[in-house]
Amino acid sequence: MGQFDALLRALRSWRKKAPARMFAPEFAYAQDGLYTQHCADFMKEERFATAYAAGEATGSWGGAPVHWRVYIACWLAERASAFGGDLIECGVNRGGIARAVVSYLGAALEGRRFYLLDTFHGIPETILSDREILHDRVFKEYYTECYDDVLNTFRAFPQVAVVRGLVPDTFGEVDSDRFCFVHIDMNNASSEIAAAEYLWPRLEVGGFMLLDDYGWQVNLDQRHAFDRFAAQRDMTVLALPTGQGLLMKSRADDFGRR
Ligand SMILES: C[S@@+](CC[C@H](N)C(=O)[O-])C[C@H]1O[C@@H](n2cnc3c(N)ncnc32)[C@H](O)[C@@H]1O
Repeated sequence: MGQFDALLRALRSWRKKAPARMFAPEFAYAQDGLYTQHCADFMKEERFATAYAAGEATGSWGGAPVHWRVYIACWLAERASAFGGDLIECGVNRGGIARAVVSYLGAALEGRRFYLLDTFHGIPETILSDREILHDRVFKEYYTECYDDVLNTFRAFPQVAVVRGLVPDTFGEVDSDRFCFVHIDMNNASSEIAAAEYLWPRLEVGGFMLLDDYGWQVNLDQRHAFDRFAAQRDMTVLALPTGQGLLMKSRADDFGRR
């Protein structure tokens, strides 16, 4: 007991002298549902800052800061471009993440196509579940008519193909059969699973499928649907602290194509 008391006293005395921030360190990153003391050094990279600013300037994120999510998309797109194949995003809105990725990749995008699929005027309620309708009503004001603006944003980038219409109906207009990076961000499970079913067999081994909404508690339908999608292929989705989910194609196993 005496020893325990002595230890307690020593700890208390050390606690008084130690700098306050050892017990309540500042967050290195605090936005977008993620509060952490872990290093976020990518925030200081000039190349990333330039890419992020280009994405932000599209107005796609409604003023919300989403740095870590965008960084993950940029990093994966760059890693994936070590493989053959094109890039595709389903759910583009005004092109925020796509524009950041185009900037981040720079010359690495040459010789590839980056397909951007969206209605460019929001989600028809008829394809949403009751839960998704509630969520969509909160965000609807951000998904307004933006087709012409998106065409303008990407006019200087001949590698980018803007495809307007409802996913999955518009896959017929995508003239590629090989992808290294797939980004799915449509805020509804039926469209997202239809996209994943179509694109997974066309994903290169080593390529990534990034799911923007996987970990958000308001997007439970998507999480459950992708957990089933992954289980059917003997995988699990990697839950990222940003709320994103990640699948990597590690073998040419699935349902036929490669
Ligand atoms: C969260 S936003 C995408 C955000 C975008 N990735 C960005 O960087 O800002 C969701 C988008 O998905 C689109 N969308 C949802 N379901 C769709 C479908 N079945 N076909 C085409 N677009 C769809 C909406 O029009 C909306 O623009």
